[in-house]
Amino acid sequence: MDYHGKIAVVTGGAGGIGRGLVVALLTRGASVVIGDIETTVLNETVSELSSMGQVRGVRLDVSDSASVEAFADDIYGNEGRVDLLFANAGVTSGGGGLPWEQEINDWRWCFSVNVFGVAGTVLTFLPRMLAAGTPGEVITTSSGDGGVAPVPHASVYAASKAAVSCFTEALAHQLQKSEAKVGAHVFYPGGGLLDTGLWTAQRNRPETLARVKPRPPAPGTTFAEFKAQLEQLGLPADIVDLDWLGMKVLEDLDEGKFILGPNIEKFGPLLHSRADAIAKGELPPTLLH
Ligand SMILES: NC(=O)c1ccc[n+]([C@@H]2O[C@H](COP(=O)([O-])OP(=O)(O)OC[C@H]3O[C@@H](n4cnc5c(N)ncnc54)[C@H](O)[C@@H]3O)[C@@H](O)[C@H]2O)c1
Repeated sequence: MDYHGKIAVVTGGAGGIGRGLVVALLTRGASVVIGDIETTVLNETVSELSSMGQVRGVRLDVSDSASVEAFADDIYGNEGRVDLLFANAGVTSGGGGLPWEQEINDWRWCFSVNVFGVAGTVLTFLPRMLAAGTPGEVITTSSGDGGVAPVPHASVYAASKAAVSCFTEALAHQLQKSEAKVGAHVFYPGGGLLDTGLWTAQRNRPETLARVKPRPPAPGTTFAEFKAQLEQLGLPADIVDLDWLGMKVLEDLDEGKFILGPNIEKFGPLLHSRADAIAKGELPPTLLH
């Protein structure tokens, strides 16, 4: 795909994986609008990357539909169109742990960003993209955790990402069926350890959705513990270059793949054993087996 002259929107693009997507898009010649809730980091990122091409930032809270609507109005007022939409902003659920120790506010916060945020972003932008009648792509960021199989101590997060994957599959099928010029894709970040702000996602949790019983992160949910778990299981635990990851997503898009991201072939054997278990009515294995 020729990205020159394309307008790309990346939610949650101020840091982490989203920033890697922004770097890749600018490298390939696209103009980028980043929407992010963290204004300070957003402004820093925009000024750091502005020498690479056309990039600007807009404060956005994907969990607030008025904010998403204002974000879209801003872009359609300024850039006039959107060719590539990356619904990437996401959070964890507040420490994880035993499913019955999660609180309803963990569900509310996580789903407000990961599920309602992604759905709201797509529902706001996609009709405008379709009305433009020009080719476009919608990319949601899911996770192997939930999109493929749950990590049991991340039950809420996994449920949110299962929703993202299911929604995006349905979307892609319906877009294909309607012969729209816009396609949908799901991105599974991976390839090793992703040293991003996801591990401190609580920094963006609103007071109104705070836990009722505050507690330290549950065992197994810090970055260091997750790294140790991966190493124990013999899974890739090297830290991934996020700019490389962003570039890999664009290469997969170039190839017309539905699922974007590195090492997706490693999910094959796990999904086969999940299918076998499900067909026998048994409990399927988890992402960590
Ligand atoms: N890090 C991982 O291991 C991993 C693995 C698989 C999937 N993911 C997914 O990748 C995506 C990016 O996460 P990351 O790891 O880069 O974390 P990150 O915290 O570094 O980046 C997330 C970005 O989203 C922004 N954000 C948070 N809440 C927001 C809101 N309400 N509105 C707008 N912006 C908001 C944050 O400010 C941040 O810039 C998420 O959807 C995450 O679930 C991450």
